[in-house]
Amino acid sequence: MIATYHHPDLSPVALLGGVYGNVPALQAVISDAARCSARLVAFLGDATGCCGHSDEAVTLIRRSCGVALAGNHDREAARGSLACGCGYRDSGDERWSCLAHEYAMGSLSDDNRSWLGGLPDRVLLETAVGRLLLFHGSPDRTNEFLYESELDDRRLEAWLDAHEAAGLVGTHTGLPWVRELSRRRFAVNAGVVGRPDHDGDPAVHYAVLTHASGWWVPTIRRVEYDHRSWAEQLAREGVDPIFTKPLLTGIWTTGVASLPAAERHRPEGSIGMGEGPVSFRATIEVPVARIRPE
Ligand SMILES: [Fe+2]
Repeated sequence: MIATYHHPDLSPVALLGGVYGNVPALQAVISDAARCSARLVAFLGDATGCCGHSDEAVTLIRRSCGVALAGNHDREAARGSLACGCGYRDSGDERWSCLAHEYAMGSLSDDNRSWLGGLPDRVLLETAVGRLLLFHGSPDRTNEFLYESELDDRRLEAWLDAHEAAGLVGTHTGLPWVRELSRRRFAVNAGVVGRPDHDGDPAVHYAVLTHASGWWVPTIRRVEYDHRSWAEQLAREGVDPIFTKPLLTGIWTTGVASLPAAERHRPEGSIGMGEGPVSFRATIEVPVARIRPE
């Protein structure tokens, strides 16, 4: 199912996904989006996961996001499945993610489950300066992993052409990137809110589109939150250390075996920037080391 929304003004648009029940990270991202003057926040799917706290996360998403679509976790939750539907290449990664999904289902109410079940798979966001196609994994498949090292620009261009869109925005992999395409069009992976991006930095990520001279310019935002207190709380609640350790270290303990070789070892503060021109690179947030508090 594809839904159409309208964003008639030129105020910034925030796009976030992969919350996985990480409520304080979601609160921090929503606050950051407000600081960026984003009047519209779009949710790209996967509200629940390893942190539990599913109702708190879904309630905050329902309250804060004017646009929402379903990720694999949301689809599986809506139909009462205890499988995560992530589609990891490595069966061990998939098993851990399914355990996280099963844990999350224990804190999800029927009302929120029903709301997740009504979400579209994709969204066409009609704006004053072009159409945006929003999705979870890829425009073709909710659980497709679009890793930066494996991007096929011809495929990205074909999706843009097919939908007469100026930009593509997804999530699912947990690793943010921005790719500039022909005619100032673009594709973005917004990263995820629920866990860091495997680069040794505990901060989380989302994307903001800002209008400039008739175009949307994408930026990946890096957001800090009180990850230590949250990890301690989750540990007290019985969450397996395999899920709390990445919140503290910024390095994944699961999902790594499924990564392409190029994504397996990411330098600190890395954010995918492709081979785009300097002007496009300038829209990416400055390197982590320079904005980390003393
Ligand atoms: Fe996902």
